[in-house]
Amino acid sequence: MSGYFLYHSIGMYPEKESRLKAALADYATQWSALDDGQWGYALGKQAAFLDGWRRILGAAEGTVAQSESVTTALYTLMRGLPEGRLRGGKVLVAQDCFPSLHFLLAEVVRRMDGELVTVAPAEGEAWVSDDRMIAHWDKDVRLALLTWVTSTSSHRSDVKRLAAHGQSMGSIVGVDVTQGIGIRPYDVTDVGADFTVGSSLKWLCGVSGAAVIHATEALIAECQPELRGWFSQSNPFSWDLDKFAFAPDARRFGNGTPSPLPAAGSLPGLEFVLETGVDALARDNADKTARLHDWIRSAGLALVSPDAAEMRGGSLMVRLPEDLAADGVVTALKAEGIFTDARGQILRLSPGSVTSTAAIDHLTQVLGARLGLKAMA
Ligand SMILES: Cc1ncc(COP(=O)(O)O)c(C=O)c1O
Repeated sequence: MSGYFLYHSIGMYPEKESRLKAALADYATQWSALDDGQWGYALGKQAAFLDGWRRILGAAEGTVAQSESVTTALYTLMRGLPEGRLRGGKVLVAQDCFPSLHFLLAEVVRRMDGELVTVAPAEGEAWVSDDRMIAHWDKDVRLALLTWVTSTSSHRSDVKRLAAHGQSMGSIVGVDVTQGIGIRPYDVTDVGADFTVGSSLKWLCGVSGAAVIHATEALIAECQPELRGWFSQSNPFSWDLDKFAFAPDARRFGNGTPSPLPAAGSLPGLEFVLETGVDALARDNADKTARLHDWIRSAGLALVSPDAAEMRGGSLMVRLPEDLAADGVVTALKAEGIFTDARGQILRLSPGSVTSTAAIDHLTQVLGARLGLKAMA
């Protein structure tokens, strides 16, 4: 158990080092063997990774593909849609989406002569409410990208409600699940969005290079990704230049030689989450954040996350007073073995399975002292 509060950045689990080492050592052994088994082994690891994600998402077989990052996942999907679905139309996104996705959207939408509508939070609010999204969401919206849980406030949207609204507006709805997946239950069928993108790096405790893209069978059938290659086909060895054929399933989101190494490196984390169960991990996190939340409230600190637990993901964000340099606070906590980070004056606190209750209390003492406040009894 530890003072680790950085699950919004990189997820941890008990015995991560030994489990990850074993997985990577096995990969090294297989990849170095002087035989012909390398690709069979490596693609088997990728298949197991996709299957793990499929179970986490409650997704049907053949609907999940690996992508290098969430940004490339969104790019692949958007530039795979029939041109007419997006060209000249509106794309809706909230201002508190992950910035990288906004950087991408701004350029893709510009090139398609469309309009990117970025919904800002209400005056004085730290996140974009679901009501505000709906207020800006009319029948001209061709595609909306929702952030299930935000990285700046841990606000958790009611994506099911938003997806239903999107459907009634005739929009394609996508959800970025990165900050919530693995710490709160999710089910693609129940939510009803058209596509889902996410990373393995946070609460799923994986490594980078192992993002995923999920799309409904109906949307997959419509997509003809611009970023395509031999691995977009059912048979990558179909090399006849005039006979390129997309795979009928999510394999069409592939392009060149796949990257099974990040998938293999992410498998132990995924397996930990599946073995432990998202419900159990959610309960553990809810207990820890409730303890932290009580102190934040009693100390009168400015909470940037929703007050109601059911509107939050697994993190709590607080705004530090302007006269208290955030990097100084992060450094002081680090000196005490408590690992956090800050975005501007916002301190991000994400306790997970390896974070101890004692460390939560210690954090409140150190932070309380910096703030001149009373620590948790
Ligand atoms: C909400 C959210 N989406 C996406 C990402 C990562 O996107 P990418 O894999 O493109 O770097 C993050 C990383 O912190 C995130 O918090």
